[in-house]
Amino acid sequence: MSLLICLPDSMQPRSLCSALMLLDSELKIIIGPENVQNPDEVEFAVVWNHPEGLLLNYPNLKAISSYGHGADGLLADKKLPVGIPLVRLADVTMAVWMSEYLLAVVLLKRRQLLEHAANQEFVEWGIAARHPGNQIGILGLGYLGKAAAKVFLNMGFHVSGWSRTIKQVNGVSCFFGIEGLTEMLNKTDYLINLLPLTKETYDLLNTKTLSQLKRGAYLINVGRGQTLVDEDLIPLLEEGQLSGACLDVFRTEPLPEEHPFRKHKKILVTPHNSSSTLPESVAPQILENYKRAISGTQLLNLVDLAHGY
Ligand code: GLV
Repeated sequence: MSLLICLPDSMQPRSLCSALMLLDSELKIIIGPENVQNPDEVEFAVVWNHPEGLLLNYPNLKAISSYGHGADGLLADKKLPVGIPLVRLADVTMAVWMSEYLLAVVLLKRRQLLEHAANQEFVEWGIAARHPGNQIGILGLGYLGKAAAKVFLNMGFHVSGWSRTIKQVNGVSCFFGIEGLTEMLNKTDYLINLLPLTKETYDLLNTKTLSQLKRGAYLINVGRGQTLVDEDLIPLLEEGQLSGACLDVFRTEPLPEEHPFRKHKKILVTPHNSSSTLPESVAPQILENYKRAISGTQLLNLVDLAHGY
């Protein structure tokens, strides 16, 4: 019986295989569906961007794991085997990297270092510059959102968070529901999107919602590109409602060369690298879920199909 790894080469499937083998040298691991000789053997699959319908080929599959925090890619497959549980990752290293990125971007903006980088011929000396506003608003209070909130709180920021259902997080002003969203946006200087992509979050960041932010607010999107309405962002930047945006995720990735986001002076674009899945860090939880799937016990980080994440 075996564990199938089906990942693009850029996600280092071999490194995941080695990290799993280090934990349990008896494991039988197959890298890539093209190397499956007997489909009956596959009991567990770890996937990212897999071909639609692929997972129907394995009659003894007991669970499928996304190789990221997001489950949207997995759920985009309209031909998933019915009744097979889906899990995703919740990883401490990914949370640390994500928090690091978010803090770096907020500090670059706050201390106006991006402007300095673009203008090295400045003439004024010794005047401390700081973008006004101290309020971070985090959309999505899951594993990554909570970790980032902690980092900003430790740095002395005020932090609010918004989630689908009511949550309590130490030191964070928590909001939920549509009214809660407006209330949180009204007081936010730095908006961070970490929401999963679902029917409810698709197009959520648009002219209406972004206009509810404090004037001159800064947007950071590290969730999914489809949550932001691209055409609405540029007018908001031009007329000053938003003072800038840092975007790591896009509707189409890689972001096309000719996309207007690439050339806009107020937009910082990064190549979906705010965080990434590190094989050695996630191998223990993948192995744990593999064992649980085989023994029929409760899986970790189950995807809730009704809510889509
Ligand atoms: C990355 O986008 C992830 O879902 O982990």
